[in-house]
Amino acid sequence: MVITNELTEEIIKILKADLSKKRYVHSKNVAAMSAELAKLYGEDIERAYFAGLVHDIAKELSRDEQFVLAAKCELDVSPIELNSTPLLHAIAGAQLLIDDLHFNDEEILWAVRWHTVAAPNMSKLAEIVYLADLVSEDREYKDVKKYRKYAHTSLEKGMFEALKYSIADSASKGNSIPISTLEAYNQYAVKIKASKNEN
Ligand SMILES: [Fe+2]
Ligand SMILES: [Fe+2]
Repeated sequence: MVITNELTEEIIKILKADLSKKRYVHSKNVAAMSAELAKLYGEDIERAYFAGLVHDIAKELSRDEQFVLAAKCELDVSPIELNSTPLLHAIAGAQLLIDDLHFNDEEILWAVRWHTVAAPNMSKLAEIVYLADLVSEDREYKDVKKYRKYAHTSLEKGMFEALKYSIADSASKGNSIPISTLEAYNQYAVKIKASKNEN
């Protein structure tokens, strides 16, 4: 599916009307960081910008609205995600794009869908959106500079460090961890080990 300037402008109008100022600014920042990483890693810049823009499109719907969308979504949804309010919006967002905008670009839909939990064999675009969400301009957590550096080192290093942190953090809080997250972590761990052995 071709992402035209008109479509991007239309989405920006929708996000501006529907999201809080803070979430709108975050969406624009994730779009900008997605474009920056796309340029760095040879991915399509307009498509990355668009995927970053829409990644949180469902985040401010009510929990029930998010659940209804997520429950009918056919993009490999796990029970752990359906039981976790913070994880619902990624799945709901992909489904909302399908239902309301008749959006059918599978690569972008999957990038939105995986931006919270990640998965093995993600596309480069999905990796970019996942990392852009973590290190966008508006992010202010303690180690953001470190993760921004990893994201600009390589997609593998960025994803590996991000997942290592995310899994340890979830486990320390006693939260369940989706299988796709663990599988993604294992896949990156193997790649990082292999690249270390080469050097
Ligand atoms: Fe999100
Ligand atoms: Fe986000």
